[in-house]
Amino acid sequence: MYKLIRSLLFSFDPEKVHEWSMAVLMRLTRNRICAGWIRQWARPPQMPEKEFLGLRFRNPVGLAAGFDKNAKYLAALDLLGFGHVEIGTVTPIAQDGNPKPRLFRLPADNALINRMGFNNEGMDAVAKRLQTWRNGAGKGSRMIIGGNIGKNKQTANEDAWKDYLACFKTLHPLVDYFVVNVSSPNTPGLRALQDADSLRNIFHALQEHNRLQEKQKPVLLKIAPDLVFEQVDDIIALTSEVKIDGLIVANTSISRDGLRTAEGRVAEIGAGGLSGKPIRAKSTEMLGYIHQRAKNRLPLIGSGGVFSGADAKEKMAEGASLVQVWTGFVYEGPLIVKKICKAFA
Ligand SMILES: Cc1cc2nc3c(=O)[nH]c(=O)nc-3n(C[C@H](O)[C@H](O)[C@H](O)COP(=O)(O)O)c2cc1C
Repeated sequence: MYKLIRSLLFSFDPEKVHEWSMAVLMRLTRNRICAGWIRQWARPPQMPEKEFLGLRFRNPVGLAAGFDKNAKYLAALDLLGFGHVEIGTVTPIAQDGNPKPRLFRLPADNALINRMGFNNEGMDAVAKRLQTWRNGAGKGSRMIIGGNIGKNKQTANEDAWKDYLACFKTLHPLVDYFVVNVSSPNTPGLRALQDADSLRNIFHALQEHNRLQEKQKPVLLKIAPDLVFEQVDDIIALTSEVKIDGLIVANTSISRDGLRTAEGRVAEIGAGGLSGKPIRAKSTEMLGYIHQRAKNRLPLIGSGGVFSGADAKEKMAEGASLVQVWTGFVYEGPLIVKKICKAFA
C-alpha cells in the first residue's frame, strides 16, 4: 500500500513532500478520532523498556536529526511509535539554509542526498515549541526527546563552542539528551571541529554548565562516517579525558562510491550528504570498530541505512544500544517503527 502512495509522492519535489505529508499527518493528529486510529494502526508490539544513558526508552527505534528540525511534528511522531526523536540541528540564530533544491532522491539506491545547511528557526523558537509540547499534548508522552545542536554558518570555528553553549543552555530544561553535531557536510568547515582540540573546548564548556544544573543531561557526539580510523581513535581517546556520554555513528557521507544511480545524475545533483542504504555497511563497520576499541564502555547509537529489523539487529550486534532512521522512513513509510520492533518482539 505504501509503495503505491510512495510512487505518487516521489513524483513531487522531496522537500515539499516532506513538509506536506507531515502537515497532513499533524492535521489528522489534531482530530481525536483520527489520532486514536493512527495510534492503533502504527502501534509497535509491546516490548521491554530499554535503559540507556539513564533514560527509559519505550523501544530502540528513534528518528534521526534533521527530520523534525524545529520540533513541529512531535505529536504525530509520538503516534507513529518512535522511542525517541532527535530535534534539530538547532542553531542559536534562525537561518534559511542553502538555496533550493537541496534534497534529492536516488531511488535506484534507496538513498537521499541533501545539502540543507542547518535550515532552522533558531533556538528560541524551538525552545518555545518544546515548552508548549511539554506543557500540553506531550505531557503523558513516553517519547524521549533529544536536542541536536550546531553552530550558525557565519560563526567562526574558534567561536563555535559559544554557539553550542548557547543552544545547550536554552534547550537544557526541555530535552532529555543532547547531541553535538560537528559532522554535517553542509556547513563549510564544520567537520574540522571533529579534531580533538575543538571537541575538548566544546564539551568542556557544555559539561561545565551541565555540572551546575539540578539534573544533568547526557551529551553525545555525532560523527561522520568518512573519518579515518586514526581520527576515530583520537575521539575514543578524548572520551576518557572529557565527559562525552556517547556517540552517534554516523551522519551522512560525502562519498559517492558504489552507487547504482547514473554518474551523470549524481554529478548533476552535486554536493551534499549521502544517506540510506549505500552508507549502511560503512557506518555499521565504524560502529563495530568503536565498540571494540572502546572495550564496550562507550554508549552507542547506530544511524545510517536502517530500513528493517535485520538492519537494526546488525547495528546492535556491532554495539549499538539504539538505532535511528531517516531515509528508511521515506522509503519504508510511516509503519517503519512497528516493522522494526516486530523483529525484536
Ligand atoms: C534531509 C536530511 C537532513 C538531515 N539533517 C540533519 C541535521 O540537521 N543534523 C544531523 O545531525 N543530521 C542530519 N541528517 C542526518 C541524519 O540524521 C542521519 O544521521 C543520516 O541521514 C543517516 O541515516 P539514514 O541513512 O537513516 O538517513 C539529515 C539527513 C537528511 C536525509
